[in-house]
Amino acid sequence: MIITGITQKCNFNCLFCLDRQHKHKKDLSFGEIRQLFQKVKSYKEDTVMLMTGESFIRPDFLKILEEAKKCNLKLKVTTNGSMLSYYDFLVKVIKGGVVQINFSFHSHIPKVANAISRNKFCHSLQEKALLNIESFNKDNKKIRERLAINFNTVINSLNYKELEGMATHLKKILRHTPFRVKFKFMDLGGNDSTFYKKILPPLNKIQPYLLKALKALGGDNPTDKISACGFPLCILSSYEWSSVELKENLYHNNLYLDSRGINNLRTQNDIAKEDFYKYRECRGCSLCEICPGVRRDYLKVYPNFNLTLSDKNPKEILHTLERISIFDSEIKNKHKHKCNY
Ligand SMILES: C[S@@+](CC[C@H](N)C(=O)[O-])C[C@H]1O[C@@H](n2cnc3c(N)ncnc32)[C@H](O)[C@@H]1O
Ligand code: SF4
Repeated sequence: MIITGITQKCNFNCLFCLDRQHKHKKDLSFGEIRQLFQKVKSYKEDTVMLMTGESFIRPDFLKILEEAKKCNLKLKVTTNGSMLSYYDFLVKVIKGGVVQINFSFHSHIPKVANAISRNKFCHSLQEKALLNIESFNKDNKKIRERLAINFNTVINSLNYKELEGMATHLKKILRHTPFRVKFKFMDLGGNDSTFYKKILPPLNKIQPYLLKALKALGGDNPTDKISACGFPLCILSSYEWSSVELKENLYHNNLYLDSRGINNLRTQNDIAKEDFYKYRECRGCSLCEICPGVRRDYLKVYPNFNLTLSDKNPKEILHTLERISIFDSEIKNKHKHKCNY
């Protein structure tokens, strides 16, 4: 899969947005997107994930979708969900062939959702979008089997205490919609560290709320329906198998393609090496060898070690992960790198 973007523009203005510093950049023209799709094909990839800006607000989005279809490419879209509040648009997007919607949903509480996205309409649009997704899936059993709905939640100081409530809310609305949830640790991006400290609680404070939310979504049994991205393994205590970094380093070989610098490809491994760091104290942890560590950014804000070392057996964790991966449709076909820890 190639991860890239067709726009930097957005109708939201999230507190922590990573794309903010690129918003002034000129979007690719339709012709340039067509070339981008050809380039993707030349890498022998069949899937493109649109990750930057808000792809659905491009007026020519449906035309782009058609172009992807002509090139035999599958599209996955990461979105704030606002445009999915229009039922007709949602139907066109799904019937037009989008195979995965990654819905960035940071809170079910109106005040919190609007404060995070810094507008007055985020909550109402996202609620409408959830109801539309559910209503579509209820009536379209066949399509729902090939459509993946994933929620991404960036944990921050406004939402971290309500993650369990959010999980329950999604379960209550999406009765006929199979979905996955990914909790994301915040990246510093273009923000300065003083600001970052205000919106990012330390890992040890996030931990109990995160674990409750994981339990509410998945119970105690390992499942591919929940994941946690950007966390050191000790924070995921008993849910280490949900670590995206662990899974991606073992099984995926996704490539990140900067839409303006077509030759700038990075693998997950490159990213993990550049972006993560281990404290000196981590050497005493049983999971040190398989753990990604903490984001380098985190150290700028919280330089002192504030984690609890794990004494879990890494082999057991990797074997659990391998069991889950067998059922994970994304990994199933790519079961190349078998773990031999
Ligand atoms: C930059 S957004 C662009 C796509 C779309 N507008 C959206 O919000 O989903 C891509 C993904 O990055 C996440 N994101 C934004 N800022 C982030 C940050 N500072 N750290 C981690 N994830 C972040 C968003 O929640 C979203 O899931
Ligand atoms: S919706 Fe996405 S692109 Fe827009 S401001 Fe929020 S995180 Fe950034």
